[in-house]
Amino acid sequence: MTLPALSGERLHAFLRGLPKAELHIHIEGSLEPELIFALAQRNGVQLAYPSVDALREAYAFTDLQSFLDIYYAGASVLLKAEDFFDMAWAYFLRAKADNVVHAELFFDPQTHTDRGVPMAEVMAGLSRAVDRAQVELGISAKLILCFLRHLSEEAAFDTLSQAEPFLDRIVGVGLDSSEVGHPPEKFARVFAKARELGLRVVAHAGEEGPPSYIWGALDVLKAERIDHGVQSLKDPALVARLVKERIPLTVCPLSNLKLCVFPSLAQHNLRDLLDAGLVATINSDDPAYFGGYMNQNFIDTFDALGLDANHARILAANAFEASFISPAQRATLLTQLDDYCASFAN
Ligand code: ADE
Ligand code: ZN
Repeated sequence: MTLPALSGERLHAFLRGLPKAELHIHIEGSLEPELIFALAQRNGVQLAYPSVDALREAYAFTDLQSFLDIYYAGASVLLKAEDFFDMAWAYFLRAKADNVVHAELFFDPQTHTDRGVPMAEVMAGLSRAVDRAQVELGISAKLILCFLRHLSEEAAFDTLSQAEPFLDRIVGVGLDSSEVGHPPEKFARVFAKARELGLRVVAHAGEEGPPSYIWGALDVLKAERIDHGVQSLKDPALVARLVKERIPLTVCPLSNLKLCVFPSLAQHNLRDLLDAGLVATINSDDPAYFGGYMNQNFIDTFDALGLDANHARILAANAFEASFISPAQRATLLTQLDDYCASFAN
């Protein structure tokens, strides 16, 4: 089926209604300034900014590190299970509004356990939100524990052992935080241990860092998906490998724009990634900080790059293919996507 040429508001309506999977969302990056202030008040946490507006004005980033500094400060208001629940539930409501039907959420336990918050509080709040999203919103969701790569391998091992009682609630492990200077090889052994425990593996690579970090994520960590991966086009042999093995890339266009990975969305390489045959997907990364959730990422990127409804269909199908769901659920979601597209074709 080839979809008709849609443009303007008709294309936007198609993008909004498209059933989607989100595979690259840091749940701490969904904390809106209003919720940061509400939680700060509830928990008696002092913030460095006098108001919501002042905090939002500080969201002018020059690179990944300039964002991470403020992102970790924002997460300091999270203390109790209820706080983690409120954060994740707010995300699920927004995801539902954007027709996200499946979501895989990254969380950064070390950001919390290093402040004395027990792993059990983090897991209790997030797990309750995941369960409620299924029952009340019909969104299936999974949790991916990320290791902070600016910290040591030993700290990552400690985090993995703290997570062991909760492994039935965690589908996989990832690697995030400051990329350059912290190559995947630093975490070879802890990822091997995670794989032994039956966990799936993803890793941020090639956001700001070089293609060699993507090779390392694949060869050393055995990553099944690459988060970002936009630097892969600098290395034709790497592109050939990613295409051949159908390794998905979870691309985050508004994040790349806000963190100055590309000077403008019109210069983003998503169209080139798709043209190269890569299994690219669109995701929001840290939507509260980067100016948009899933639909905003789709609409702004499609407008900037002149993509059409057939690209949208491929992107949505790629995300279902890349999801850590059962074959039966994948088939159901792909049928839902086909039915949606057919309703537009008529
Ligand atoms: N943590 C939250 N967002 C991130 C990003 N875009 N890259 C690396 N680590 C992150
Ligand atoms: Zn990310």
